Amino acid sequence: MNTHATAVVGLQWGDEGKGKIVDLLTSRHDVIVRYNGGANAGHSVQVGSERYALHLVPSGILHPDKICVIGNGVVVDPEKLLQEIDGLRQRGIEVGSNLLISDRAHVVMPYHKEQDAALEDFMAGITRDDAGSLAIGTTRRGIGPAYGDKVDRSTAIRMGDLLDAAYLRERLHVICGLRTRELKALGVQAPPLDPEALAKRFGEAGERLRPHITDTVYGLHDAVKAGKRMLFEGANASLLDIDHGTYPYVTSSNCSTLGIPAGTGLPMRNIGRVLGIMKAYSTRVGGGPFPTELLDAIGDGIRTRGREFGTTTGRPRRVGWLDLVAVRYACMICGTTGIACTLLDVLSGVDELKICTGYRLPDGRVSDRFIPDAHRLTDATAVYETLPGWSEPIRDASDRKALPENARRYLDRIEALLQLPIEMVGVGPDRRQTLEAASMASHA
Ligand code: IMP
Repeated sequence: MNTHATAVVGLQWGDEGKGKIVDLLTSRHDVIVRYNGGANAGHSVQVGSERYALHLVPSGILHPDKICVIGNGVVVDPEKLLQEIDGLRQRGIEVGSNLLISDRAHVVMPYHKEQDAALEDFMAGITRDDAGSLAIGTTRRGIGPAYGDKVDRSTAIRMGDLLDAAYLRERLHVICGLRTRELKALGVQAPPLDPEALAKRFGEAGERLRPHITDTVYGLHDAVKAGKRMLFEGANASLLDIDHGTYPYVTSSNCSTLGIPAGTGLPMRNIGRVLGIMKAYSTRVGGGPFPTELLDAIGDGIRTRGREFGTTTGRPRRVGWLDLVAVRYACMICGTTGIACTLLDVLSGVDELKICTGYRLPDGRVSDRFIPDAHRLTDATAVYETLPGWSEPIRDASDRKALPENARRYLDRIEALLQLPIEMVGVGPDRRQTLEAASMASHA
């Protein structure tokens, strides 16, 4: 086992503040790897007075001398990626041989975004009594249709294909014919897709990305052999995992750590530490069941204080109490070794805090097991433990011992219920407002 390799993964429905933790850990690693998702993810990182919003490029790019890898499990929108690279370069960030993109990563094409939006609009018109509309509430970034093509195979395009003009043209002629008909069936009123124009546009994007496109699988194995310290950056989050999340209200990749082997070509035994990122409360964007959702003034207060609006779409996030049934399940499937509890400061001023420890099922039984199926999860009611809150601001706390007693009790109870150590606590947006285990060593 490579004890120098760390995976950072969201334990809820995304937006747990992974960006800041990844950024903090980057200085202790050499190679930063994305293994899943695409431009649906959004990391905002504050470095000094500069704020960077990154969607595809790993945030490790902000640190000189780190290698950033976009693995084969990612779906890449080449134009969006180029925009991000140009934006970084304009701000003086070097993007050269420090960015590697898998030649096997699949391409998100403009028609994927059209398909995503058209399917969502179509489903939004179909409602079910117990669950609202059938729309997933996607980011409309074309993620689902791009992964769909990956599985369908005959209509897929990979990053390596962008470098072979004749092959790309030939494929696009077949795909565009089919896609035009499919889009029309979904009600899209648009001129037929133009394979020549798309081949030119994406061939050019491929040429600009050529220096970065490579076989990252061998590259990653070489790095492991050379003793490099690897950091795996999960996009989206465990409860949005295509196999293990609240299906069908999930994204289209394995965003738990289970996606790492498939999305990089590196076996799991290479990873010694799995740091699960858990917000001190819950949020969710888009549709799907949310047993601890708060639809009252407490929820509104948390949303405002936590600035709970999407980095990628700007949508207000749904807010709820901490659901430890869900988090415990995510820890189980991810092989989590420790927790980073983020945004604890947002809970300052809430009189009483609730932690969900079980679900009451329709037959009256209380279960401590998560239900990774949206239809059945809708029938579960959260069972809570109530803890006293604290009123003091905590952003200046220097270690866990300095936190108000009730904040410490909240963290202690989470550790006891998860049977895992909380290694980091986020008490503010700045990188320095993170209490780490070393400074918590004196914690009883
Ligand atoms: P998609 O990934 O755009 O297909 O969206 C599927 C679902 O996952 C939607 O509910 C999105 O809001 C949600 N989602 C995808 N990525 C993220 C993320 O990084 N944070 C939070 N929610 C996400």
